[in-house]
Amino acid sequence: MRTVRLSIMGFGAVGQGVARAILQKKDYLSTMDIEPIVVGISDRGGACVEAGGVDLEAAIERKQKTGSVAASDLTALDVIKDIDHDIMVDATPTNIEDGEPGYTYMLEAFRHGRHVVTSNKGPLALKYSMLCDEADKNGVKFRFEATVGGAMPILNLAQDALAGNSVMSIEGILNGTCNYILSRMTEEGLSYKHVLGEAQELGIAETDPSYDVEGIDTACKLVILANSIFGMDVTYDDVDITGITKITPESLSLAGAEGMVIKLIGEVRDGNDGIIRVAPKLVPKNHPLAVGGTLNVALLRTDMAGPICVKGKGAGSIETASAILSDIIAICKNRC
Ligand SMILES: NC(=O)c1ccc[n+]([C@@H]2O[C@H](COP(=O)([O-])OP(=O)(O)OC[C@H]3O[C@@H](n4cnc5c(N)ncnc54)[C@H](OP(=O)(O)O)[C@@H]3O)[C@@H](O)[C@H]2O)c1
Repeated sequence: MRTVRLSIMGFGAVGQGVARAILQKKDYLSTMDIEPIVVGISDRGGACVEAGGVDLEAAIERKQKTGSVAASDLTALDVIKDIDHDIMVDATPTNIEDGEPGYTYMLEAFRHGRHVVTSNKGPLALKYSMLCDEADKNGVKFRFEATVGGAMPILNLAQDALAGNSVMSIEGILNGTCNYILSRMTEEGLSYKHVLGEAQELGIAETDPSYDVEGIDTACKLVILANSIFGMDVTYDDVDITGITKITPESLSLAGAEGMVIKLIGEVRDGNDGIIRVAPKLVPKNHPLAVGGTLNVALLRTDMAGPICVKGKGAGSIETASAILSDIIAICKNRC
């Protein structure tokens, strides 16, 4: 059995989802000869560390009871630098101003010889090539399936399952909150403000929804797709962005009369007519991109396999953890 020592930075919805996934999948992982041991977990309150393996159930319970997982004087950076482990899982908040704290955590992890798996878009949307160079320089792996589309596999689909194909373009709905708002406005003829208010009450939209509804979240995901699948060298500033805040029930109803729906579509295309854009678009009602509710969807156009479409849950604790777990397994299979 190969022991894999992990740290988890950030112990919110995703970090706890990773801990639960590791607990749930212990037997499954052992059939793959993988024995995961979490040696450190941190949140804003501090860290808990156990060289022999943190008791994950107790850590989740402590977090829920006291608000913090901390059980030592150590910080997240102490864990990354000083506690021996193979893979650092970064599940800290997305910040598109400077990428922190995830950016520094990732750099320090690479410099200390640790592979990194992350769900945090911010550092990748701002400093993708710098991070990849640092991982390469230190001979470690950097994987980030969970940053684009939550549970929905896009990066692994394009890079592994569709290996040998050239991907010419990717179009998709990459933000569940916007899709929920537009779907309900379409189905019920309600105003943007009304549906946004209800989405906030249901916890589908944040108190400050601007990051989602202005298209910023989708733009960050496009940057990651553009750089990792198309080999571009773009950052968030290169994306042409229009959000959904100006869409009216009248425009949705006019679209409906023509057999169309309006969706917030992220689009990236390589080549001379290269595009990296987020904007509301008319989509025929029976088109594969016309998915409803909070679902995400991506349509990849490839040279040999033709169009390939994948849809699924773009967010959620255990859903996002599933993408993180798949990256951990991929690193382990390559002998971590
Ligand atoms: N939730 C999803 O469905 C989803 C899906 C895909 C991607 N993501 C991405 O995954 C990341 C985590 O999302 P989430 O929903 O789990 O967020 P969350 O619930 O807000 O959790 C974030 C965690 O990071 C911790 N944290 C904040 N600053 C820190 C620091 N300086 N050092 C160490 N830990 C720190 C927080 O500590 P406290 O608990 O002490 O506040 C919290 O435990 C985000 O980047 C998000 O965009 C989330």
